[in-house]
Amino acid sequence: MNYYVLTLFPEMIENGMNTSIVGRAIAKGYLSLTTVNIRDYSVTGNGRIDDYPYGGGAGMVMQAEPVCRAYEDLIGRIGKRPRVVYLTPQGRVFSQQMARELAREEDLIFLCGHYEGVDERVLEEIATDFVSIGDYVLTGGELPAMVMMDSVARMVPGVLSNQESGQNESFQDGLLEYPQYSRPEEWRGKLVPQVLLSGHHGNVDRWRRDQSLLRTLRSRPELLERAALDKKDRKYLQSLLEEGQETALTDDEKSFLAKLLAI
Ligand code: ADE
Repeated sequence: MNYYVLTLFPEMIENGMNTSIVGRAIAKGYLSLTTVNIRDYSVTGNGRIDDYPYGGGAGMVMQAEPVCRAYEDLIGRIGKRPRVVYLTPQGRVFSQQMARELAREEDLIFLCGHYEGVDERVLEEIATDFVSIGDYVLTGGELPAMVMMDSVARMVPGVLSNQESGQNESFQDGLLEYPQYSRPEEWRGKLVPQVLLSGHHGNVDRWRRDQSLLRTLRSRPELLERAALDKKDRKYLQSLLEEGQETALTDDEKSFLAKLLAI
């Protein structure tokens, strides 16, 4: 996977990406990273790449020409026209499914905006995907681009070692991940759940699945509506509605669950 990033802050991208697991993957050649400083394509000669918005209003807008020149220079060098992801709160919300889909590409260009955004005309010309990483506003597209590149990188063969491999993780099967414990068995008076020490793989798997269901119900109930639930899952969820449960549910959780199980 080859990543290309059009940005005003290349050092932010380089510092963030050349660290930890993604940094290791770049060093080993499973990923490559090329940053392009949009400021180098200023048309005024003084490094300026923004101007006031037509129609008035606060802030500045990144001009079309420097962005377009940076892009054209890049595609000229790489000799193809990869997808161009523009990071914006106005885009489709990023998801694990989108990460999986983007991981099938050989090359991806990310365009990071700043200020009040980028002149719409250049976006019409070059952007193929408009992506938001969530319903909040950041100061620029660099962090969202890094979030996407990190998440897509995990799907690229060779990036994760076997141990790190993301087979059994949150969202892979539409549920949140179960809790994890490591040594010691007792920490500040708190014990590791007995079932995890039992060595009984069937019971461990069932406990983990139940914990995933419970966590999803508590934090992201809407995910349960789309998850594939089998008979045992439904039986566990049903048991949560019964009196005297130690995992006492709120009234909201109970009524959500009752409706879910009635379907
Ligand atoms: N730029 C600023 N905020 C953003 C967000 N939430 N997602 C993607 N790009 C952004």
